[in-house]
Amino acid sequence: MSSEPWIAADLYLHGLFTPEDAALTHATASSASAGLPSIAVTPSQGKWLHLQARAIGAKRILELGALGGYSTIWLARALRAGGVVVSLELEPKHAEVAQRNIHHAGLSDRVQIRVGPALESLAGLVAEGATPFDLIFIDADKPSYPDYLTWALKLSRPGTVIIADNVVRSGKVADDTCTDANVQGARRFNAMLAAEPRVGATVLQTVGEKGHDGFAFAVVER
Ligand code: SAH
Ligand code: DHB
Ligand code: MG
Repeated sequence: MSSEPWIAADLYLHGLFTPEDAALTHATASSASAGLPSIAVTPSQGKWLHLQARAIGAKRILELGALGGYSTIWLARALRAGGVVVSLELEPKHAEVAQRNIHHAGLSDRVQIRVGPALESLAGLVAEGATPFDLIFIDADKPSYPDYLTWALKLSRPGTVIIADNVVRSGKVADDTCTDANVQGARRFNAMLAAEPRVGATVLQTVGEKGHDGFAFAVVER
């Protein structure tokens, strides 16, 4: 048990804003019992993603990294009628658990999981001439974040919102001597995003159940 005040505050906030939800509780429990790592977004973060999608009236959402489908469920529930979440997941086992959890949540008709390396699936989407997405959530392997940004921009239009998880990593992202590949990926991603003339972007640090991290938020402007 940690005594960090932000953990107690997160539990308090979850009690207020994200009360018990059968489908999400099931997704979390079945992911844990299948041995998936417990690295999904927190309830508050999931609802925040959901509300971002609702605020822009998203009809097409692209997710990189499904894990057990926890964030996928939050995003799929935000879709306007006829909308779709396309979620890219490397691990067949994660994709299977996610698919089951999404089915259990009654969302199978609006979620498509593509199994394989996200870079290949992204190239496939571009090759297919996929309609640009309204919201893109980047949450797969961190070293590939810079490449994911390049592909995300190809699958965007002016107005597309791009959100990326885990871009602060307990503040390690400020350390240019850090050798952790995840931190280096986040550093390169942040630098690329900040210098990208086609987007307006910022990073908000977060603290809570999952410790100290942050979300990048960008709007494609041209
Ligand atoms: N978005 C999820 C958490 C994702 S965890 C949630 O919040 O609920 C990161 C996921 O990215 C893991 O399931 C991992 O298997 C997947 N991943 C790792 N490398 C990948 C790659 N190259 N392509 C696609 N997915 C990848
Ligand atoms: C971790 C957390 C994440 O949100 C993620 O997507 C991947 C890894 C982690 O804390 O290790
Ligand atoms: Mg994450």
